[in-house]
This record gives sequence, structure tokens and C-alpha cells, in this order.
Amino acid sequence: MIKPHGSDTLNSLLVTDADQLQQLRNEAESLPSLLLNSAAAANAVMMGAGYFNPLTGYMNLADSLSVAETLHTVDGLFWPVPVVNLVKDASAIEGAGRIALRDPNTEGNPVMAIMDVDAIEQVTDAQIHMMAQEIFGTLDPEHPGVSTFTGLGRHMVSGNIQVLSLSYFQADFPDTFRTANEIRDEITQRGWQKVVAFQTRNPMHRAHEELCHMAMKRLNADGVVVHMLLGKLKKGDIPASVRDDCIRKMVDLYFPENSVMVTGYGFDMLYAGPREAVLHAVFRQNMGCTHLIVGRDHAGVGDYYGAFDAQTIFADRVPEGALDIEIFNADHTAFSKKLGRVVMMNEAEDHTKDDFILLSGTKVRELLGNGIAPPPEFSRPEVAKILMDYYQLENA
Ligand code: ADX
Repeated sequence: MIKPHGSDTLNSLLVTDADQLQQLRNEAESLPSLLLNSAAAANAVMMGAGYFNPLTGYMNLADSLSVAETLHTVDGLFWPVPVVNLVKDASAIEGAGRIALRDPNTEGNPVMAIMDVDAIEQVTDAQIHMMAQEIFGTLDPEHPGVSTFTGLGRHMVSGNIQVLSLSYFQADFPDTFRTANEIRDEITQRGWQKVVAFQTRNPMHRAHEELCHMAMKRLNADGVVVHMLLGKLKKGDIPASVRDDCIRKMVDLYFPENSVMVTGYGFDMLYAGPREAVLHAVFRQNMGCTHLIVGRDHAGVGDYYGAFDAQTIFADRVPEGALDIEIFNADHTAFSKKLGRVVMMNEAEDHTKDDFILLSGTKVRELLGNGIAPPPEFSRPEVAKILMDYYQLENA
């Protein structure tokens, strides 16, 4: 099986031994505590679940600046996005060596991790802006990732963590949320060798579905792991439970049995386009996939990124050998009226734009909001029905 990123075995930071867990929970009660913001909590979940192997905790300022600028830590580990715990007010933990980190996304803010504090560093506005510019390619405050990142705080709390809980994800998505270790185990059990990961934050429409079919076929892969984002999204994006229902329905009806694993991970969307695509590749390698599909405007938002910047970054910024996972690049995929099926547009050379059914996300949302199903060439009717039911409830 493909090795994890940066080490021979997967190093998840979740404490699983019941006695040790109890001991750490008891200890946490007497430690100074810090209520995390959602971005830092999501980082803890990803480290706890093995996705951010080989990281052992939150990065310090030198590593964060280095990662933002060069995609490498100071020690030379390839890593695409700073993994930080930035806080607005660090007064409660000043001088503390060991602290409890509390979960902002679960009722009662239970302890989700214990941290050995290495440093609490003051970050300047210039440093925050440099990092935001590098990660997101813009400083526009309208960009949801930029506004989140620049609003997190100016104190960077770094150090190793032990993770005690994976927040609400296991309870809320018992059938879908998986750790990287669990996905590796299931891939092994299924006997899959060549495994394609599909990142998504959307209900899967026909273009998404066809990308998975095409990748499977062209790579002669054993299976696809649909890996949906279960964490926070910007306003207007469809909630995870609805997407989960859509994806399961589509997989049941339109994929051969046992060819797809429907899974999810607990991370907030960054909307960092190319940089997020590289992060996606890192954690899909960690969960045991050999390939990641990267299509049009991967992890993008608005018009901030070129349609295929998330593909070219792998040639431009990822050094040879830095990752073992390979990228399956896909062109814009759409339904061809001429051919009566979904195709990659660059492979339909005799077509003009009018030969395709092209709908923007905004248009689809508008249709659904008005109780109109998107055309069957765009969305499977069974998926459209779930979405219409959701929008009807939303608008009630
Ligand atoms: S993302 O933010 O998770 O990337 P989305 O769920 O829409 O958004 O996309 C999942 C994957 O499908 C990404 O790799 C994206 O590039 C790809 N994709 C989505 N729609 C298309 C399309 N029409 N043509 C080509 N690739 C697409």
C-alpha cells in the first residue's frame, strides 16, 4: 500500500487507549484551557484522524511563514498550508506548559486535545497578510478563506498535541466520517491496489459522477473513495447531511456494487483553490489512495483562481518525489447534447459551447430555490429530488 506522507507508518494523534484517555481527561480538568476557533479545532480533528501525518502538533511562526512561502517547513518537510492555532486572546494560558484545548463546535465545549505549549508568538499584520496572500492568492476580504484566516487572531500557539476527541463528526456522521487509518484498513480489506480519491463539497451531479467513472476506467483502478468535506462551509453551500444523502443515492443507483466507498472528513473548507488541492493530495495519500481527481476550479470560490490552477500547481510548486500520490487531471466535464452523454469538453473537438448543457452553481441554486429540478442531463432525478426537498424545507 502507498506510504503515508513523510513517514513509513501513519501517526494519528488520537489517543485510543481507554486508561490513558481517562487519565488525560482527568488531567485536563486541572489545566489552563483555551477555547479553540473552528479552524484550529478542524486542524486538531485532521491531526487526530491521521490525515495530517507526519505533523505532531500546531506549527510555530517560523514554520508557518516558511510553509506559506515555500511549501516546506523550516526542517524541509513538504507541506502546502500552515496548520496553526491562532488566537485572539492568550492571557488565560500565559506561561503554561501544558493546556487543554476546548471544542467550539460541541455543546459544553468539552476538551478535545491536550497541548504541550512550545511557544506563544505574536504575529504581525504584515505576516498574516503575507501568509494569506500566499495561501489564497488574494487579500480580498470578500474571499471567505481570507476573511476567516485574517480574523483568527494574532497570537500563534504552537506545540505538540494529543487528541482526545474528533469533535462531533463521529456522532453526527457515523456511517460517513472515517479516520485515515480506517480508510486504509478498509482499502486493505477490499484488496484494492489502485485507489482513486474524489474530493467533494457538493452533492454529486452528473459531471462529478462521470469524473469518477472516467478516472476508474482510464486508470484501471480497483475503486473510488468519495471523500466529502463534513466541516464548515460558506453560507449557501449545501449541508453535509443533504450532500451525504445525495451521494449515497447516486452511488447506489449509478455505480457497480463494491466499486465506491462513501466517506467523509472533518475539516472546514478553506476555499484556497490550488493550495487546498495540494493539501487534499497530501491527506488522500495519508488515507491510502494512489490517485486524486482534480478537475475544474478545484476547491475554488468566485473567480479568484484560474479554472485549472489547481492542476498546474502540482507541476509548478510540488517538487519531484515530494508526494507519492498521483493526480488525475480532468478537463471541464459537461453533458453533450450531440453525444447524449457527459464528456470532457476538450475531447469533443467538433463541439461548440452550445452543444453542451452548462449550468453555473448559482443557476442550479436558483432553480432549486424556485422548486424546479435541474435538467436530468445535469443532475440525476433521484439526486434532484433530495435537493428539492431540502430547498423546500429551507424556504418554508
Ligand atoms: S470542491 O471545492 O470540493 O473542489 P466540488 O465538490 O464541486 O468542489 O468538486 C469536486 C471535484 O470535481 C473537484 O476536483 C472539481 O475540480 C471537480 N469538478 C466539479 N465540477 C466539474 C466539472 N463540471 N468539470 C470538471 N471538474 C469538475
